[in-house]
Amino acid sequence: VEIRTHSSLRPTTVFCMASSTAFLLLLVAALHVCCCRGQGGHAGTGVAAIYSLGDSITDTGNLVKEAPPGAFETIKHLPYGLTFGRPTGRCSDGLLMIDFLAQDMGLPFLNPYLAMNRSFDHGANFAVAGATAMDPADQFNGRFSMPFTANSLKLQLRWFKDFMKSTFNTDEEIRKRLQSSLVLVGEIGGNDYNFALFGNKNVSEVEKLIPAVVQTIIDATKEVLDMGASRVIVPGNFPIGCLPSYLTAMAEPETSAYDSAGCLKDLNLFAAKHNAQLQRAVAGLRASYPDAAIAYADYFNSFLSLLKGAPALGTFRRG
Ligand SMILES: *[C@@H]1O[C@H](CO)[C@@H](O)[C@H](O)[C@H]1NC(C)=O
Ligand SMILES: *[C@@H]1O[C@H](CO)[C@@H](O)[C@H](O)[C@H]1NC(C)=O
Repeated sequence: VEIRTHSSLRPTTVFCMASSTAFLLLLVAALHVCCCRGQGGHAGTGVAAIYSLGDSITDTGNLVKEAPPGAFETIKHLPYGLTFGRPTGRCSDGLLMIDFLAQDMGLPFLNPYLAMNRSFDHGANFAVAGATAMDPADQFNGRFSMPFTANSLKLQLRWFKDFMKSTFNTDEEIRKRLQSSLVLVGEIGGNDYNFALFGNKNVSEVEKLIPAVVQTIIDATKEVLDMGASRVIVPGNFPIGCLPSYLTAMAEPETSAYDSAGCLKDLNLFAAKHNAQLQRAVAGLRASYPDAAIAYADYFNSFLSLLKGAPALGTFRRG
């Protein structure tokens, strides 16, 4: 896979999880697998539009549109959006993976669905920062207190369907549009675990959520495929034991709790379990939808190669 530099815009991240060259590389790889069979279209990929579901990794401005004044002030100010010269609602000062993806396909940046009067000619982004895969009410029995938890995958799918129905006249037209589109289902599910773990549930308890989270993602993917999507990417979770938030909140006194990269082993193992189950389920989907290209995007290993390659890549390293 060839690393492409898209512009002078540098992806640096000050919040949430990072967009990076490694992620880009991975998505470019995924797209080469799944998108090359289209005919014509933009940048030779046959992809005329991108539709995306997900959380803060992908949100290009939905959360800030629905947040009341005073809420989520952090991302409404610089350095968030520094690359764009203004805050956009992205949880980053730079570009997100979805932005690189759009660039790579020769498409404009995806507008957030809630920015109602912008152009959606080349797709729409339904991802909302903080979103969970499952409906939080079911998952946490009402004990869950994060604001804006209603933005589950279910709600985002409803937005997606409403949007397509209001944009196109018939199911057949929607199907036709989706034949020349790319649909991202995620990354999603990370917050289901984040909220549980930061809500003081231990890893073995949170592991019990994995089958339901994976099933929720797979069910959403099926719905998208049933609408007619022919190119779908389902990303896995990051090695969350390497994330500064977990390294800070769940610091362990024993060095044996950490791997050679300085990450918390049990959390990475947990994320790997989620990813293994998701990959098995994605393989099952491929068997059920032989005409669609369904790619699993390996954020886990991409993140690790970025971390391990940090000195060579010119980014700083822990310790
Ligand atoms: C929509 O467009 C109008 C006119 O250009 C503008 O005044 C308004 O602020 C826009 N609304 C949103 C939600 O962006
Ligand atoms: C995790 O929490 C459950 C429920 O509180 C408890 O039964 C279990 O022993 C805990 N496991 C570990 C490894 O701490």
